[in-house]
Amino acid sequence: MAASAAIPQFPHDFLWGVSTSAHQIEGAVDERGASVWDAFTAVPGHVKDGTTAAVACDHYHRYREDVALIRELGVDAYRFSVSWPRVLPGGTGEVSAAGLDFYDRLVDELCAAGVRPVPTLFHWDTPLALAEQGGWLRRDTAERFAEYAAVVAARIGDRAKKWITLNEPAEHTLLGHALGQHAPGEQLMFDALPVAHHQLLAHGLAVRALRAAGVTDIGIANSHGPTWPASSSAEDTEAADFYDVLLNRLFADPLILGRYPDGIGELMPGDDIEADLKVIAEPVDWYGINFYQPTKVGAPLPAAAATEFSGLTLPPELPFAPRELDGYPVTDFGWPVVPESLTELLTGFRDRYGDRLPPLVITENGCSYEGIDDQRRIDYLDGHLRALHRALEAGVDVRGYFVWSLLDNFEWAEGYKQRFGLVHVDYTTLARTPKASYAWLREALRAQRAHQAPQA
Ligand code: FCB
Repeated sequence: MAASAAIPQFPHDFLWGVSTSAHQIEGAVDERGASVWDAFTAVPGHVKDGTTAAVACDHYHRYREDVALIRELGVDAYRFSVSWPRVLPGGTGEVSAAGLDFYDRLVDELCAAGVRPVPTLFHWDTPLALAEQGGWLRRDTAERFAEYAAVVAARIGDRAKKWITLNEPAEHTLLGHALGQHAPGEQLMFDALPVAHHQLLAHGLAVRALRAAGVTDIGIANSHGPTWPASSSAEDTEAADFYDVLLNRLFADPLILGRYPDGIGELMPGDDIEADLKVIAEPVDWYGINFYQPTKVGAPLPAAAATEFSGLTLPPELPFAPRELDGYPVTDFGWPVVPESLTELLTGFRDRYGDRLPPLVITENGCSYEGIDDQRRIDYLDGHLRALHRALEAGVDVRGYFVWSLLDNFEWAEGYKQRFGLVHVDYTTLARTPKASYAWLREALRAQRAHQAPQA
């Protein structure tokens, strides 16, 4: 049955937003320094449809039209990412005036539209110059990142009040450095762990740099999802637990508890992990969660070849193997749609971290479906907002929700095939066409506000 636009009533100060990222929408690659993604996508076979993000949505030149779409949608906030190589073409050293000017104009446009800018400083597009010197395998990169954070904050921190340091360091470690299916295409397997540590350190150093620049509302966007053991056997629960450590706790525990899960700290680089953990656990004002799906995980299958899973190819030598989640609808990406697992994730975070847990914000949630008459996206969003509301009712402190994504865009190794937008983009004409889900969300937000309007 079609979902009506009447979602449950959220608190009056709940923050509604939409998300994008620089590499996925901006285009204008010739007007910035090179990033690892430019080099990665230039190699045939790396992107399934053979495309690159050279033009993408051409947002760099069409941001005014996009801000107008955000304003019309009626959300409070826009989460975008700043391209590090656009601001610092060499990753460090000389600042590009044109690059900084772009974000300055974007922020002005948002403020004039009454939309709060929420910049993310890193959404996977490492400057190529730094990557060629070792990138996130080097500790130095964390320090360069904090310097870059200070440069951006000095320019737009007067108008952008809410900031995100990193997007999904887990995926960047796993897909980019362990499995090689994202840039920079390294296949280091467990030798990729330093990449996780250096990103976490970069986060902590950037929190300090942002605070020194006067920013007071800082978070991170980590991807999380419940892990479901394939069975209650010891082999399956152990394998699921290991997966859960790698994808969830490795990134949440150091930030929230100031320690790595058992057995992980010893594997991390550096002379003084305890000192690093103090930086990493620099308190954040809120903790962002990108949520897409739960994962069912079991022990490796005997004599298994590589497993195809959610668009990824997982090698058989991993000590765990994800299983198909039967019995749920899937998106066009093949990702299972399990809204109730969002409630489970959020109450699970509250139970695990208790008083140490900062207020939460859902910094990404959304789905890939073809078509402009996208009833399935409406049902997806409706289901997830209801699940989120149930977490609030259960007492979890969640302060905001950002849909991924405003626009159809360059979906990394999938190219343009997966469409996550509330707004359709025709990649030939670059015309934007709001989908049915855009109209639905606009009505849902109007209904929220009408309900909150003071009685005459
Ligand atoms: C998240 C990424 C985002 C987008 C969505 C679908 O993992 O942060 O850029 O690719 O998935």
